[in-house]
Amino acid sequence: MAIQVKNNIQWVGQRDWEVRDFHGTEYKTLRGSSYNSYLIREEKTVLIDTVDHKFSREFVQALAEEIDLNTLDFIVINHAEEDHAGALTELMSRIPNTPIYCTANGIDSINGHHHHPEWNFNIVHTGDTLDIGNNKQLIFVETPMLHWPDSMMTYITGDAVLFSNDAFGQHYCDEHLFNDEVDQNELFEQCQRYYANILTPFSRLVAPKIHEILGFNLPVDMIATSHGVVWRDNPTQIVHQYLAWAADYQEDRITIFYDTMSNNTRMMADAIAQGINETDPRVKVKIFNVARHDKNEILTNVFRSKGVLVGSSTMNNVMMPKVAGMLEELAGLRFRNKKAAAFGSFGWNGGAVDRIQTRLMDCGFETSLALKAKWRPDRDNLELCRQHGRDIARQWALEPLLPEPAPVAQTPVSPLAASDAQTPQPVDTVVLADNAASAELGPCMQCSVCLWIYDPQQGEAMQEVAPGTCWQDVPDDFLCPECAMGKEVFDPLPGEAK
Ligand code: FEO
Repeated sequence: MAIQVKNNIQWVGQRDWEVRDFHGTEYKTLRGSSYNSYLIREEKTVLIDTVDHKFSREFVQALAEEIDLNTLDFIVINHAEEDHAGALTELMSRIPNTPIYCTANGIDSINGHHHHPEWNFNIVHTGDTLDIGNNKQLIFVETPMLHWPDSMMTYITGDAVLFSNDAFGQHYCDEHLFNDEVDQNELFEQCQRYYANILTPFSRLVAPKIHEILGFNLPVDMIATSHGVVWRDNPTQIVHQYLAWAADYQEDRITIFYDTMSNNTRMMADAIAQGINETDPRVKVKIFNVARHDKNEILTNVFRSKGVLVGSSTMNNVMMPKVAGMLEELAGLRFRNKKAAAFGSFGWNGGAVDRIQTRLMDCGFETSLALKAKWRPDRDNLELCRQHGRDIARQWALEPLLPEPAPVAQTPVSPLAASDAQTPQPVDTVVLADNAASAELGPCMQCSVCLWIYDPQQGEAMQEVAPGTCWQDVPDDFLCPECAMGKEVFDPLPGEAK
């Protein structure tokens, strides 16, 4: 059903209450979405964008009930992704000679999806105009990489409506079309989620493009997006919000996310958060288990944060896969102006924390000291985690904090002492000791082939090496349980050679 937008402009799009996945399963559309298409009926009849390809038939059928399709003079495709240009094949099968106006890159992507190079394409550039009669013109503005190379916006003079396509939109479905008619908290939440998860990589392009458009000095009475609401009440509020988000946005917030095998890394996360909160209660701290929480909400929280702490148990000497997936997301979104650090619990080696820390550096974060805990953190080590949180709170404070109180006498293990204790450690990692370990048993020994570690406290039950057996007392025919290599390939664990 068409909805009146302004004067001779109607919404002829499609609501999608059910959709939950976008871009494959990359984006969870928890509040559905809409595919906004607009029909302009001046002396010329113009269609701005279509809808998602899965609604092609319904869309063309509904459009045919509004107008005789043969009277459609122009089709404008602002962006060729399937959720906007998806119904073109169905529509063009009915009116194959209708001119299509798009960018040069638009032709490439439309052909890439629809494979009809014979369609009547007309390339437009920024500032080009198209006369549609009644003293009105369409003005085109290319917006490459916001968020595809083909993206553009279209402005109609007289009505002063900007058809912005993806920009300023939200994956949000409501029976109401206009921004002043919907729940404002839901609307803001979905706008921010959309920006954080889709537009963040292109933030450096957002402000210059907005200023370029503002430089045209065109009045803007409405912004008609291609997802979610039409901004008619104070329409430029979303433009100013985009400028703020594009300027290396951050709040006084820290996001902690992790995955955990035995709850030990979760215990660390909770203790670190307590330390942050003790030292700087102004900071909002949010903790997420990546295996259990909506990925896009975690990423939105990272977008809002001044820093992120990423934790993982070590599994097979690497991080847990869901954490690795999130780090790939962080790399792609290219967050700027944020700090980060790794943490995690391990059993016999702590490879996950080192890998996370390296990956965070690769992602462009300014990294702080990482933190490892061997096995389940005990009371003393939980206190060290809290102290780590206090240190992070001070290092990442947006405003100076009061001086740290003098250390209490009963502090059980100092980070410095702990860092001398065991296992391989990168220069910027603190390792919390397994306090029960006895130096008398000598160092742990590491297989140089597969990195399995012999811990004299544990022994090796399968080969009847009793707990408490130091390395020199391990039988000469001992084989690495992982790779079956002999004792001769074992070396003292780095940092433990005595
Ligand atoms: Fe809404 Fe880029 O598609």
